[in-house]
Amino acid sequence: MSTGADMAAARQRIAAAYDPELFQEAGQRLIAQLSAHLRKVQAADGSVLPWRDPAANVAEAASYLAAEPLNPCQREQLADRFAQLVALMLRRGHNLHDPRYIGHQVPASVPLAGLLDAVGSVTNQPMAIYDMGPWATAAEWALVEHLGQQIGWAPQSFAGLVTHGGSLANLTALLAARNVALAGAWEQGLAGRPEPPVLVVHGDAHYSIGRAAGVLGVGTSQVLRVGLDARRRMDPNRLQDLLAQLRARGQDVVAVVACSCSTPIGAFDPLPEIADVCRRHEVWLHVDAAHGGSACLSPRHRDLVAGLDRADSVVWDAHKMLFMPALCAFVFFRDKAHRFEAFRQEAPYLFDPTAPGLAEYDSGLRTVECTKRAAAFGLWGVWSLFGPQLFADLVDVTFALGQQFYEKLLAAPDFEAVHEPQCNIVVFRFVPHELVDATRDAVGRFQLELRRRLIESGEFYIVSTKIDGVGALRATIINPLTTPDHLDHLLAAIRRHGHDLLSGRRS
Ligand SMILES: Cc1ncc(COP(=O)(O)O)c(C=O)c1O
Repeated sequence: MSTGADMAAARQRIAAAYDPELFQEAGQRLIAQLSAHLRKVQAADGSVLPWRDPAANVAEAASYLAAEPLNPCQREQLADRFAQLVALMLRRGHNLHDPRYIGHQVPASVPLAGLLDAVGSVTNQPMAIYDMGPWATAAEWALVEHLGQQIGWAPQSFAGLVTHGGSLANLTALLAARNVALAGAWEQGLAGRPEPPVLVVHGDAHYSIGRAAGVLGVGTSQVLRVGLDARRRMDPNRLQDLLAQLRARGQDVVAVVACSCSTPIGAFDPLPEIADVCRRHEVWLHVDAAHGGSACLSPRHRDLVAGLDRADSVVWDAHKMLFMPALCAFVFFRDKAHRFEAFRQEAPYLFDPTAPGLAEYDSGLRTVECTKRAAAFGLWGVWSLFGPQLFADLVDVTFALGQQFYEKLLAAPDFEAVHEPQCNIVVFRFVPHELVDATRDAVGRFQLELRRRLIESGEFYIVSTKIDGVGALRATIINPLTTPDHLDHLLAAIRRHGHDLLSGRRS
């Protein structure tokens, strides 16, 4: 049994955690710390990735959990400890704002977006139903309308939502496709069908598509990959042949999944031709534009996504090429009537029968999530501050760097460009003269070892991939502060680490 004194002490501790004065003190230090950090990191002063063994990081994080708590009445001490924790987080974290970060499809985000997102976190504005997050809902709806029109759809003719990432976005879109293509699938599952349905996908589709097939009960072995052309784009003629065969056998097709652009090398599919084939066979076209959807906002690169408006569903990640902090991913349905198809069990009016019109705004009817983080404040605020021009600039600058990097690779006899880039994703290999006669396997293994050595050095951050089963280096130029000089230095660093690796030295 708790006594009155226990409760009073508990209330005192709680009051300290909620104290607006402490918040102000800690917050002022936080802003100073973050600003200094950005200045340093953007000037490439220090390691990109402060590599440490994961177990060492976990042990250090755990040691803070076990630390002696402070006296909740000591505001100054609490603010000091808060600043120490922030300093530690900054010291141990990855520095995506360093221009030598040329890594995954995760950007050096616009810093102010993080502050706008923090408003949602500090005041806790989760969504599910409109009245829990009224402004979060408003921001999301306004963005859906703006971005959908950039895709090319008429105002108010389409629907969309924000979800926690591109993988969940693909799952949501394909769930709607499945429920439309296979009558009764939501209620009865897929049992009892004479022929198992298939999902027809780009040969290099992101793994979240295969996962979605597993989750949807279609089955990963029912995922059919369409052959690619010489630039690793979906070949519409092969798509036509495959769909004709499937239709002739009477086999159900859940959807065709095209890419704008593909993950491995950033290839943009010929959407108008693919849309023609899909229409001919009356198949749902889903376009995974998680990375390349932002080309819509650039007059210079819009042609890459010509035909996107003909897709039945589109996924577009704001935490990729809209340069937002993770996670914020959009799903669009060209036909507004499909907006409640993914999750059919709740008729909209059931949420609040007294206000049926409001159910339109309840995100929980359309997303996997019930409680959903308010993920769109950053994009809403940055768009409101800088307008769409900023996003066009970010696409133009990073896509141009992709082309410049490719030209540098072509000019370097010890490097091999795997493809001509269509955007800011460039795949390549370092093949010094010692490896010219090596097997492709050995060349591939060398790239992977080289990449690990490079990122652990803290000098640059790039990633690796496999193309046709052979290891390669992969750069996504997704920090707009990267310059051509940084790219020259990257090649020099790869050469240096590569030669050290070949000569067995640890650099
Ligand atoms: C084309 C494509 N689709 C989907 C995804 C998955 O997105 P997320 O990491 O937000 O789940 C990725 C991730 O890189 C991607 O490249």
